[in-house]
Amino acid sequence: MNVYAIILAAGKGTRMKSLDQSHSKVSHPILGLSLVQYVLRALKPIQPTETYAIVGFGGDVTTQLVQDSAKVVWQHEQKGTGHAVQQVAPFLSGKEGITIVLCGDTPLLTSQTLSNLLKEHENKHHDLTVLTCVIDQPKGYGRIVRDASGLVDRIVEQADATVEEQAIKEVNTGVYVFNNKILFEQLVHLSGNNKQGELYLTDVFKMFKNEGHHVGASILQDSREMLGINDRVQLAEATKIMKQRINTDWMLSGVTIEDPDHTYIGPEVTIGQDTVICPGTRLLGKTAIGKGNVIGPETTIENTLIGNQNSIIKSQIIDCAIGNDNHIGPFTHLRGHCEIGNKTRVGNFVEMKNAKLHEGVKAAHLTYIGDSTIGENTNIGCGTITANYDGKNKHHTEIGKNVFVGSGSTLIAPITLADNSFVAAGSTLTQNVGEDDLAIARARQENKVGYAKVLKAKINSK
Ligand code: UD1
Ligand code: CA
Repeated sequence: MNVYAIILAAGKGTRMKSLDQSHSKVSHPILGLSLVQYVLRALKPIQPTETYAIVGFGGDVTTQLVQDSAKVVWQHEQKGTGHAVQQVAPFLSGKEGITIVLCGDTPLLTSQTLSNLLKEHENKHHDLTVLTCVIDQPKGYGRIVRDASGLVDRIVEQADATVEEQAIKEVNTGVYVFNNKILFEQLVHLSGNNKQGELYLTDVFKMFKNEGHHVGASILQDSREMLGINDRVQLAEATKIMKQRINTDWMLSGVTIEDPDHTYIGPEVTIGQDTVICPGTRLLGKTAIGKGNVIGPETTIENTLIGNQNSIIKSQIIDCAIGNDNHIGPFTHLRGHCEIGNKTRVGNFVEMKNAKLHEGVKAAHLTYIGDSTIGENTNIGCGTITANYDGKNKHHTEIGKNVFVGSGSTLIAPITLADNSFVAAGSTLTQNVGEDDLAIARARQENKVGYAKVLKAKINSK
C-alpha cells in the first residue's frame, strides 16, 4: 500500500521571537540539526512512497533544509493546519493509500512511535487514527473528547474549548494517519467557523465520524516525544532530552562519555567502540569518529559555522572523519572538512579546517592548519600557522612525510614542504622546500658581547 507523508512546516513561530523575519521556526537547530530534519529522520525508516513538506513563513530557508528528502509545497498564507494540508490536494487527491500527517516542530517523535501508529491504524481497519497523549498540563493543545462509551468523538482546540473540555488531559499530539482518499474528500468541507478563524485539520475528525468512517486514537505513553517547540525554553528542553537520548545510545554501544550532561553529540555523528569522550566536548554535523580515540575535554568537532542561516544549510554537506587511536584535545577545534588518520596527536588550541592528517602526525599545541595535507609522522611544532588566505583566495599547503616544522613557523600558501624536510623554528616560508632540505627563513642572530650591561646603564640614567 502507498504511504504518503505530509509535514506541516509553514507556521510563523512567533514565540521564538527571532530578529530575522525569514528565520522559520522549524529551521532552529538542536545539536546542529534543524527541527524539521529530525521529523524527516523519524519518517525515514517508514519509507513513505512520497513525502511532502508544507513551507510558508521563512519558506526559502525551510526549503533548503527539506528538499533532499521531501517535495516542497508552498502555503503562501497561513490559514491553519487544515488549509496547509489542502495545499497537497493537487498531488494526492483521489489516490488510494494512507497518509501520515505530522508537524515540523516535534523533533522528539521516534520512528518506533510512527510505525506503531501505522500498525494500529491498519490492524484496527481505521480510516483515521490520531496519536494522543495524557499529560498533566494540557493547556494549548487540542483536547480529545470521548463519548459515553469511551470512543473518540471529536477534537476541540484550546481556544474553542468549554471549561469542562479544558479539564480533559488527553490531548492531540498533532500526528495522524488518514485514509488518503477520504481525507481529501473531507478537507474541501472545512470552514473557519471557530475562535481563530482558521481551517483546523482537527475538524475533519468529526466529519469522518459523521460520514460513518472508522476513527480511533492511539495513545502515546512517553509524553516527552510529543513536545512541540514553540519557544526557546522548549528548544532547550528538547535539546536536553535529545542529548540524553543520543549519549545513552553511544554509552550502551561501547563509547565512554565521562560526563553525559556536558557532552553534545549530534544525531548524525558516528563513534567507534572504546573511544572516550571527555567533558565539554561538542561533536556535531556529519562527523565520523573511529575506535579507541580520546576526544576532549572542551573540544569541538563540527561542520556548522554558527551565526546565520546560511551556515545551517551549508553544514549539511560538510564532513569530518577521524580514524582510530587518536588523541584530540583538550581545547581542539576542528571546523569541518577534516580528515584525520590514525594515531595522531592534536592538542590544545589547535584549529583545523579543510585539512587532512595522515597517520602519526603530531600537532600538539597552538596551531592553525587550514587547506592543508600533512604526511605520515610529520611533526608540526607549537605555534605553526598555515597562512592560507591572501585576503581574496584560499591556498593549499602540502606537507610530506616525516617533516619537522619547528615552533613558531608561518607557512605562506601555496607552498609545499617535501618528505623529510626540516623547517627551522621561527621561519616564515614563502618558497617550497625540497626533500631532505633544511629551510631557515629568519633574521640571523647577532650577539654583542657584554652589551647588556651597557644598555641597562643607559636606561637607568634616563
Ligand atoms: C495543533 C493542533 C492541536 C494539537 C497541536 C499539537 C490544529 C488546529 N491544532 O495546534 O490540536 O494539540 O497542534 O502540537 O491543528 N502550520 C502550517 N500552516 C498553518 C498553520 C500551521 O504549516 O497555516 C504548521 C506549523 O508550522 C506547525 C504545525 O502546523 O508545524 C502546527 O501548527 P501550530 O500553529 O503550532 O498548531 P497548534 O496551535 O500547536
Ligand atoms: Ca505547535
